[in-house]
Amino acid sequence: MGIHFEIRRRATRSGYLPILFCALITSVAMAQVPQSQQLSSPINVMPLPATVAPGAGRLLVSQTFSVAIAGYNDLRLQRVAQRFLHDLSRQTGYFLSERLGDASRATLTIHADHGSEPVQELGEDESYVLDVSSAGAKLTAPNPLGVMHGLESFLQLVQVTPDGYAAPAIHVEDTPRFPWRGLSIDVSRHFISTEVLKRNLDGMAAVKMNVLHLHLSDDQGFRLESREFPKLQELGSDGMYYRQSEMRELIAYASDRGIRIVPEFDMPGHSTAWFVGYPELSSGPGPYQIERHWGIFDPAMDPTRESTYKLLDKFIEEMTNIFPDRYFHIGGDEVNGKQWDANPKIHEFMKAHNLRSNQELQQYFTDRVEKIVSKHHKFMVGWDEILTPGMPKDIVIQSWRGQESLAEAAKQGYRGILSSGYYLDAIQPAAQHYLVDPLSGAGATLTAEQQKLVLGGEACMWEEFASDESIESRIWPRAAAIAERLWSPQQVQDVNWMYRRLAAVSAQLEQLGLTHRSSSEVMLARIAGTDDIAALQVLALALQPASITIRETEAEKAGGIQTSDVALHRMVDAIAPESEVARKFSSAVDQFVASKFQDATTESSIRQTLTKWRDNDSALQSLLQNSFLLKEVAPVSQNLASLATAGLQALDYIDARKTAPGEWKTQQVAMIQQAAKPTVDLVLANAPAVQKLVEASSVPVAAP
Ligand code: ACM
Repeated sequence: MGIHFEIRRRATRSGYLPILFCALITSVAMAQVPQSQQLSSPINVMPLPATVAPGAGRLLVSQTFSVAIAGYNDLRLQRVAQRFLHDLSRQTGYFLSERLGDASRATLTIHADHGSEPVQELGEDESYVLDVSSAGAKLTAPNPLGVMHGLESFLQLVQVTPDGYAAPAIHVEDTPRFPWRGLSIDVSRHFISTEVLKRNLDGMAAVKMNVLHLHLSDDQGFRLESREFPKLQELGSDGMYYRQSEMRELIAYASDRGIRIVPEFDMPGHSTAWFVGYPELSSGPGPYQIERHWGIFDPAMDPTRESTYKLLDKFIEEMTNIFPDRYFHIGGDEVNGKQWDANPKIHEFMKAHNLRSNQELQQYFTDRVEKIVSKHHKFMVGWDEILTPGMPKDIVIQSWRGQESLAEAAKQGYRGILSSGYYLDAIQPAAQHYLVDPLSGAGATLTAEQQKLVLGGEACMWEEFASDESIESRIWPRAAAIAERLWSPQQVQDVNWMYRRLAAVSAQLEQLGLTHRSSSEVMLARIAGTDDIAALQVLALALQPASITIRETEAEKAGGIQTSDVALHRMVDAIAPESEVARKFSSAVDQFVASKFQDATTESSIRQTLTKWRDNDSALQSLLQNSFLLKEVAPVSQNLASLATAGLQALDYIDARKTAPGEWKTQQVAMIQQAAKPTVDLVLANAPAVQKLVEASSVPVAAP
C-alpha cells in the first residue's frame, strides 16, 4: 500500500537513484538493469552493502546446507560458523547439521586470510566479499570479523520462494563507512538482565554494529560488582547488579559476535549511587540513598581531595582488568555544580589552584582521571562536556548535545562519535534517526583530514521509561536504521526503501530470538487479562508512545510520581515506538490525494482501515472495563473512532463528488487536533493523515 508509489515518485522527482546505484553497483553489468527492477529486487540486506551486483539464478537452501572453513581457522571462527548454521535453522525450520564440512563439497565456504586481533581493535578490517551462485556460496575476508558480517548478510539474503528457501545469486563487496557503530544501553535507571543484553548483542551482530556501550552507574544504580569497593553494589544497586563472572561471560559473548564492550562509569556527576556506600567520595555531607527520581541531581564527586583519586585509581584498575577493550568511558555529563558551590573547602581549593569556575574545576577532575585511565593503558571516552582545552589528543568525545560539538572536537584534533540525533528513548521515527549523518550539518564543514577523526556513532537507549520487558521494542528495529547510517555509503538515503528493509530485518530479528514484537503481544494480553486481544491490538497498532519529555511533564502534573519504582506496565509501555500501520495509512492517503482521488484501489484500502478503526471502540468496551490498566485508554479508543468517522465522511464527500462544507471541515479539524494531543502518554499516530484527508475533501476538485 503506497510504498511502490513512494519509491517511484522519489526516483522521478530528483534523479537521485542513478547516483545511488553508481555507488551500489561497481563492476558488473548490473547498471543495465532498469531501476524499477532493482528497486523491486528482493535484496533486504540491512545495512545495505557498499557494493552489490545481482547475478543470474539463485542458491537453494535445503536440509543438506553445509558450511566449511577453508584458510585461517580457529575456535572462535568455528563457533561463528556453527552459530550461523543455528541461525539459518531458526530462519528456515530445517534441522541443519552444525558439523562443519569439507570445503570441496560444502554449500558455503568461508575463507579468512588470518586471525583477528586477540582483543578487537577499533578500526580493524571488517570487510568481506560474498559470492552466491546456483552452485554454492563463497565468503572471503581478511579476518573473522569480515566473515561474521558476511554471514549476517547471507542470512538476510535467504528468502522463502515458491519452490524452497533460496538466496539470490549475487556478488557483494562490503566494508563499513565508520569503524565505531555502537549501541549504548543504560542499565542503571532500570537494571537490564544479561539474558536481555545477549539478545541485544544478537540484534547488533545481525545489523553489523560493533560496540556495546554499557552505562553501568548513575544516580539510580551502580550495576557491576566491585571486589575492591563492595559497598558500591551492595548498597547502590537494590541487589540488581552483574557479577564480575557474568560480565566476563557477556564480553566473551560479544567478542564472538565481533562486538566490543565499552564500560561507562559516569563521574563526577550522575554518581549518587556511589555515595550510598562511599559518602566520603562526594562533595556534600551525605548521607545518601539511591535516587528514585529522574533528572539531574546535585551530588558530585569531590575533585579536591586526593582520596578521591586514590579510590578511582584502584577502582579503574579493577575495572580495566575486567574489560579488555582499549576504551574506557568516564561520563562527565550534566554536572550542576551545586554541591561544589555549597562547600567552602572546595572554594578554598579552587582559589589556591586558580580555578575560576566549576567548569574549570571539572576540567581539573577530568584531567586527573584521564591520567589514571591512561596509566591503566586505556583511552578515555567522555560526553562532550569533557571537551576542554589541554586534554590529550587520544581521548574520544561522545557528542550528545548536538552535531556541532562533534565537529568542534574534530577541528581541535579530537576523535569523536555522534549520539545527538540517535536517542532511541526519545521515541522518534526511524526515518528521523536515519537522516542524521555524522558528517552532515556541522560535520560537512570539516576537512577530509578532520572527517577521519569522526569515528562513527552510537544509538542511545536511556532506561528511565524502559525495562527488561520493553527495552527490545524500544531499540528494535529502529536501531537498524542507525546501523545502516553508520555502515552504508553516505548517499544511501531513500527513506521508503529503508523502511522496506527495516520491516524485513525486524521480522528476521524476531526469528533469531529477539522479542521486540512478541513482547508487545504478551504485555497486551497481561494488561487485558485475556488472550482475546484482537480489538486491543487494532488500537495498539495505531498508537505511539508520547515522547519522554511529555511523559515526564504529565507525570509531574500528576504529582511527580514518576520514579524508578513506578511500574512500566501500562499501554504506553506495551506499544511500539513507531506505528507501522499509521505510517502506511499516511502513505496511502498521500497517494490517494496525489491521484486527485482517482486511485480506487488505494481508496478502498483506506476505507477498510477507517471502518475497522471506527468499529473498534465498541468491540473494545468489555476489555476497557475489565482491567484497571485499560480504563485510562477509553478516551483514546473513542478518539480513534472519531478520527475514523471523520475520515469516512471525507471519503463519502469525495465519492459523491461533493466538496465538503467549510464549516464541517473546521469542526473536524478542531476535533482531530484535540484527538492528536497526547492522552495518557499515548499518541494517535494516524491523526495527521486523517486531517489531510478531511482538508483534501473540502477543496473543490476539477472534474476529471
Ligand atoms: C546525556 O544524555 N546526559 C549523555
